[in-house]
Amino acid sequence: MPPSLKIPAPCKINLHLRVGKRRADGYHDLESLFAATDFGDTLEFEVLKSSGVCEILTDWQVPSTRLPERSPPPRDFPVSPEENIVYKAVSLFRARTGFDRGLRVRLEKRVPLGGGLGGGSSDAAAALTALNKLADTGLGGEDLRKMALNLGSDVPFFLSGGAALVSGRGENIEPLPVPSGLSVLLVNPGFPSPTGLSFRRLDRWRTQREGSGGLPGPDLSRTRLISALAEGRPEAWPYVNDFLPLFLDGQGEEAGAYRRLISSLREAGADFTGLSGAGSTCFGVFKDRKTAEKASETLLKAWNLVYLTFFLASLTISVLK
Ligand code: C5P
Repeated sequence: MPPSLKIPAPCKINLHLRVGKRRADGYHDLESLFAATDFGDTLEFEVLKSSGVCEILTDWQVPSTRLPERSPPPRDFPVSPEENIVYKAVSLFRARTGFDRGLRVRLEKRVPLGGGLGGGSSDAAAALTALNKLADTGLGGEDLRKMALNLGSDVPFFLSGGAALVSGRGENIEPLPVPSGLSVLLVNPGFPSPTGLSFRRLDRWRTQREGSGGLPGPDLSRTRLISALAEGRPEAWPYVNDFLPLFLDGQGEEAGAYRRLISSLREAGADFTGLSGAGSTCFGVFKDRKTAEKASETLLKAWNLVYLTFFLASLTISVLK
């Protein structure tokens, strides 16, 4: 059994996200295009001689934001170990497999929390993948997917990564070819957008609008969604995110930040701009790398959390020791 394993936990963006009505179980059916990027966290798992313990050491690498009213996160992860999704993934894996060796997890945290980039979900999927290898349990994809969904709606996607059309609550995953040669600029506005809260806001907003003339957004066929991705022309992508009109609406500080961010990305030459997940990170997709690099420099003058990356084809695990 290898005593140590280092594994990347890439983040994702949602190129397209349509949200259906609230279901009886409280979740919403989605239709979404997920794409993993090269930007993300890294986890290193070390198996200890003792049994039972799970130590999580977090190296916090998310820069502080410039919004004055929000204090920067402390260097230590601001979540108690038991609430950390990696800890939950380890506990679930132990319960399902009987694996009881002690573990030390080093988590290099780069992806902002509550940013719609799936950082925590990717950490959880990476943990399941790493444990399955370290413990040599040989769990199949179906077992891992069930555990993943138990941990969160976005977690199953991260077991395979790449690009995919995701539907249901997040459990139906149809892999798609990853667009190549495109640059992706992620810009987080410096405030989180808690997922559950954003879904509830969307429900309320829609109820108000239904009374005054219906819901926004085009209905795109699955075929059109998939073929647009394969064409590799982001300037012609017909994709939308149902949360964006909600977040752009209104006079508040956050709506202003979203408006400034999206227009700065457009002015900087992005071929496509969008919002990831239920917020708060916005992104631009660029065909030309030089334009993307210049845009990155320009946006860094006004925003603190700016990451230039690209779509990631597949996940790799490297055994260190
Ligand atoms: O599954 P996860 O824990 O990430 O979801 C967080 C919250 O987001 C849920 O409690 C639910 O309110 C909302 N959600 C939803 N529909 C989804 C995914 C999440 O309503 N498909």
